Parts: sequence; structure tokens; C-alpha cells
Amino acid sequence: MAKVLVSMTLPGPALEVLRAHHDVEVGPDPVGLGRDGILARIGDAAALITRVSDRVDEVVLASAPSLKLVANCGVGVDNVDLAACRRRGILVTNTPDVLTDATADFTFALILAACRRVAEGDRLVRSGGWLGFSFADMLGARVTGASLGIVGLGRIGRAVAARARGFSMRVRYAQRHRADAEVEGALAATHVELDELLATSDIVCLCCPLNESTRGLLSRERIARMKRGAVLINTARGACVDSLAVAEALRSGQLFAAGLDAFPNEPTVEPALLTCDNAVLTPHIASAERPTREAMASLSVESVIDVLAGRAPRHPVP
Ligand code: DGY
Repeated sequence: MAKVLVSMTLPGPALEVLRAHHDVEVGPDPVGLGRDGILARIGDAAALITRVSDRVDEVVLASAPSLKLVANCGVGVDNVDLAACRRRGILVTNTPDVLTDATADFTFALILAACRRVAEGDRLVRSGGWLGFSFADMLGARVTGASLGIVGLGRIGRAVAARARGFSMRVRYAQRHRADAEVEGALAATHVELDELLATSDIVCLCCPLNESTRGLLSRERIARMKRGAVLINTARGACVDSLAVAEALRSGQLFAAGLDAFPNEPTVEPALLTCDNAVLTPHIASAERPTREAMASLSVESVIDVLAGRAPRHPVP
């Protein structure tokens, strides 16, 4: 039995399965270990299970001489120093596919909530400020038939595009490599350059991974070049966006609304966003659907069991 350090409580049966194979240490609920907690406890662990908010850097890796695997419970692996893992011969795995539908569903929840002012309406009712049915107040942006610009047509972007057809949306996407004609045809999605997508989309959804080419992608300058009154949705990573510039655009009317599920320095949120009534802010819960999180947990545990038994994991990160 080897020591496995798990940053956070895992929903479902996954931890019990892992305990049948290895000595398991689990971080505190609900916040998990975080980078410093992992550093303090990793010691002779052979495997580590992490989440998006656990930074695994060179210092953490250097303090874990027995580490064979970082099993990241999530599809994005921007929290892990992949190059450092590679240099040390430490495998990294992730949990793709199982969270695609949940994340795409939630992207649509944010599209609808932001365009139709759902959170703002909820606050109005709860505050006692609702004066009665009003014909001309609380008017939202139209979702059906809107032009949807998807930045990143990977698994999640495609699932968002598929859902958009149900809303008769016109779908365009931007990414460095154009998708196959078959994929474009099936999704009725047209490839355009990012600047064109930003300038012409009613709703822009970020569905891209965070990497060197997407960090800061939605800069102040690019936000200024978006179609006036557009809606911005981010279920990707906070660092893809200039949060202060988004808040300013929400105030000036450059953006009609935003739905943001990811922030650059979670759980801290840019204070200027907190006072924007037209921002729907959610605590990184796009994949937080019970069956999805249980499946993510099971996949991570499966990776640990496989790697520590000398087998190749199902989802190695190259
Ligand atoms: C992911 O999988 O990358 C999500 O952001 C966390 O569930």
C-alpha cells in the first residue's frame, strides 16, 4: 500500500475504492489542501489527487521524492506545472469527457441568466423592491436566434454549439486550428478570426483551456472591440479575461451582461464586479453536478490505482 494524498473530499464511492488499495490522506472540507497544504503533507506520497485550485509547482514536486502521479480532478490542467512533472518523470492525468455535458449545460444556464436578468430579478424580489408587474422594466437580451461566438471548439465548445441549435442561434467559433468540415457541418458552426467573432457576436462564450495563448485573451482592447451591448460568458478560466475591464464594460453598457463562473484568483473576485447588477457570478460550479463530480472522482481514483499498479492510465496529459 502506498500513500495517496487527496486534496479534497470526493463525492460518491471513489474514496472508499481508493482506501481498499492504498493509505489515503484527505484534506479538509470544503476548501481542500491548496498548494501550501499539499506542500506541508505530501512527504512520501506516491500519488496526489488535486483540483483546479491546487497549484502544483516545482517546489511542491521537489518536496515529494516518491511522487509518481498527479491526478487532476478536472479537465483543465493549468494548475499543474506540466513541464516540471515531465522533467521529474511524474505522470499527470485529468478527467475529460465526463464533465462536458454538465459544463455545457451550465454555460447555457449562464447565458439565460445573464441575458434574461435572472439573478437580478431574484435579488429584486427578495429585497422587497419589486413594485409589481412592469411592462418596461427588467427587459433582457434575446437568446433565441442570437449570434453565438464560441472561443475554443473543443469538447465543451462543441457541446455548447450543439445546445445552441435548440435556440436557433447562429454559431461561429474561433480557435487556432480549424475544426474538421464534418464537425463544422454537424454543428452548423462557422470558423472566423477572433476579432471578427468579437465584433459581431451577440453572446461570446469562452470555452478554451488556459495556456500561454489564451492568458489575457479578452484584454481591455478586445473588450472594447466587442459588439456594443454583447453578453460575455466565461466557464473557462478567469485568467483568460481582464476582470476589471469587464466590470468597466458592464457599467458603460459596452457589455449588456456577463455570466462568470471562473476568476483569476479564486475565491477572490474583482471588487468592481461585485457591484455590477448585470453580472451573474457563480463559484466555479460549471461541473458541479452530482453524477459528473462522482464520475470525475472515480476517474481520478482509477488513474491512481492504475499508475501505482504499473498500468497506463486512461487519460494521461501529454
Ligand atoms: C475543470 O475541469 O477544468 C473545471 O474547471 C473544474 O471542474
